[in-house]
Parts: sequence; C-alpha cells; structure tokens
Amino acid sequence: MIDGRRNVRPIRWALVGGGAGSAIGYIHRCAATRDGYFQLVSGAFDVIPEQSKQFGKELGLDPARCYGTYKEMFELESQRSDGIEAVTIATPNNLHFEICKAALESNLHVICEKPLCLSSREAQYLRKLARERERVVGVMFGYAGHQMVEQARQMVCNGEIGDVRIIKAEFAHGGCSQASPQEKLQWRFNPNVAGPSFVLADLGVHPLYLMRVMVPDLKIEKVSCIRQSIVQSRAPLEDNAFVTMESNDGAIAFMWVSAVNTGSQHGLRIRIVGSEASVEWCAEEPNKLRYEPARGFPIILQRGTHGLYPSARAEDRIAEGHSEGLFEAWANLYRRFASAIRGETRTMDEPSWYPDIDDGAEAVLWVERCIESSERNGGWVNMY
Ligand code: NAI
Repeated sequence: MIDGRRNVRPIRWALVGGGAGSAIGYIHRCAATRDGYFQLVSGAFDVIPEQSKQFGKELGLDPARCYGTYKEMFELESQRSDGIEAVTIATPNNLHFEICKAALESNLHVICEKPLCLSSREAQYLRKLARERERVVGVMFGYAGHQMVEQARQMVCNGEIGDVRIIKAEFAHGGCSQASPQEKLQWRFNPNVAGPSFVLADLGVHPLYLMRVMVPDLKIEKVSCIRQSIVQSRAPLEDNAFVTMESNDGAIAFMWVSAVNTGSQHGLRIRIVGSEASVEWCAEEPNKLRYEPARGFPIILQRGTHGLYPSARAEDRIAEGHSEGLFEAWANLYRRFASAIRGETRTMDEPSWYPDIDDGAEAVLWVERCIESSERNGGWVNMY
C-alpha cells in the first residue's frame, strides 16, 4: 500500500506543454507529484511565451524558472547547479520528436506523451540517443497503470486462462462524431500537427500497449487494417479504423478504434480469450476485472481485495471498496519512471515494467504498418 512516505529527494522536473486549458497538463502535474517522487520546478507550458511564463507563476513556481520556450529552458536550466533532471513533453504530436531530442541532448530523462514521434526513423534515432546518453524515456500509455491491468497480466502469465487464443480490443468513443467538435481538438485532424494518422495514433496505441502488458509473450507478426474518414472533411486522416493482427503463437487480435462511435463516452476495453477462461477489463470501470471460466460462474475481481496477486495490490492507495482512478494509474507509472531514473531495483511484489522507448517505438511502427495495409485495401503487412 502506498502511503506517501519516501526516503529519497524528489527528481527536479519540468513540463513542456500542458499549459492553461490543455487537456492533460493537470493530470501530469498531479500524477508526477502525487507521491513526492518528482517536484515541478520549471516549465515552458505554452506555445505563447508570455502565457507560459504567466501560467508558471500562477502555479507558484519561481518566476525566473518559468520560460518562454523549451530551448531557453533546457539551456538555462543546464547552467544551474539545481537544474532540472527530467522533463515531461505534453505538446501536440508534431513537436514530440524535436523536444525529446533536445531534452536527451541536454542529458535529461524524458516522459513523452504518445505518440512518441511520427515515424519509425525518428523513433530509432531517439532510441539510439537515449541509449548513448543513458537516459530513461517513458511514454504515457497511462491506462496501463491501473492495478487491475497488472492483475490481468499476472493471471495470463500464470496460465490462469490457458492458452491465449483471441484478443478483442477497442478504443471507440464518440467525442468527434459531429463534424465540428471543440476548437481545441482541431489540431488532431491536421496531418501537419497530428501526423499521418488520427485515431490509430491517438487512441489505438493505448489498447495496443495494454495487449503488450497483459500478454507479454505476444509478438504481432502481421497486421491488416482498413480505415475511414467518416466525417469526410477529416480526410486523409481516419476517424475510424478496424485492425486485425496475427501473432507469433497463433493468437489472433482484433481492434476497433474510433472517434465517431456516437454516444460512447470513452470506450476503451480489452478482452483476452484463453482456452480455459477469459478476462475482460474496461477503463470506465478500472477497479474491476471480469474473469469468465469455461465452466462455472463469472467472477468480478475487485481492486484492493485479498487473493489478488501481490503486485496488483502493491500500488493501492486506499482499501478495497473505495474507487481509485486515472490520476492514481498515472501516478503509479510516474513512481515506476522515478524508480527507473534512479536505477532502483524493485521487489518481485511490485510491478517494475513501465511503458518505455521500445514500447513507444513499437506503437509508431504499428501505426505505420496499419497505414501501409490500409493503402493496400487491408492486405496483410508484416510488422518486421
Ligand atoms: P492541447 O492542445 O489540449 O494542449 C497542448 C498544450 O501544449 C497547450 O498548452 C499548448 O499551448 C502547448 N504547446 C503547444 N506548442 C508548444 C510549444 N512549442 N512549447 C510549449 N508548449 C506548447 O493538447 P492535449 O490534448 O493536451 O494533447 C497533448 C499531447 O498529449 C498530445 O500528444 C496527445 O496525443 C497527448 N494526449 C495523451 C493522453 C493520454 O491518455 N496519454 C490523453 C490526451 C492527450
């Protein structure tokens, strides 16, 4: 159980993006600092320099450390004896590569929003640079931090569902089912900012990572994808896609990704079908995991209860019956990022895995392969 105690100094941390009115700045700041492993000391929060400085001041930071641009921040912070050690990148997609590159060149550890970058070439470049500089790069596939995701992983790894046969995943919300959703979502339909994909890169990479976590031995070998711009003004970017995947051990996976699933609030769920049982997890009820054996009655496993794997209980912050949510899930990942940055060895009873640069790069490659397949009317494309 996490109770807020720590015996280490917080990592001096900064945020690029995530400024006033942004979708995810607040959850990054809350999650990173929740357990005291990171301390926000600096930032370049906004594309408009004056607003960035003003926002930092309103957060209570030292005005001298509220910067107009990330370049200025990296340069001036590197000259301080108490300069930043890690940075989170929470800007629109097209900036992730250049900011991540600049951060690594400044010897900073990085937590980057998804997608890590816009091409495999960029991902390989970042991976090499991170290795050379011996820096940690985490990628915020935040849903994976929920404890019941770890429970599902342990159940699959310990053979509790038998051989994995089928994976059915979806992230299909209805937030963009009308032609003109909120103004602040508009960059997601612009290929110059979002990159070559809308929903595959924005949404699909989340269930893709959940598949990797819950079925760690799974290696996708081939993908077949068709994608559509249901709201036609979004072409060439898709707002809906269907992806089928074949894996190394014969398991088949299917994913529906959509932003035009009218009426759906969120719609992230994953079902792993085994030869003996199935497990199903849904982000809208993250404290639960449904277990359905071939014979007998289905069971709803509940976060925080006796009988769960120790690693699925290690990051509880409050006893069973109370709800924990996305902020806690992200805080779990931030704790693991902090452990990785410090080079700590975690006990067997704590999850030590976290979404890293390889996971980020794999997601970028997967999006590329899906696009390739869709350009061939859904023909099979090898992943590697
Ligand atoms: P947003 O448009 O709401 O906010 C972007 C923020 O970045 C704004 O504050 C903007 O002023 C700032 N910004 C833009 N250019 C900048 C620059 N050059 N320097 C400093 N700040 C700059 O975008 P949103 O929705 O917050 O998305 C940001 C990123 O987070 C995207 O890559 C998106 O894919 C990702 N995201 C991830 C989620 C997750 O579950 N992990 C959920 C939502 C978004």
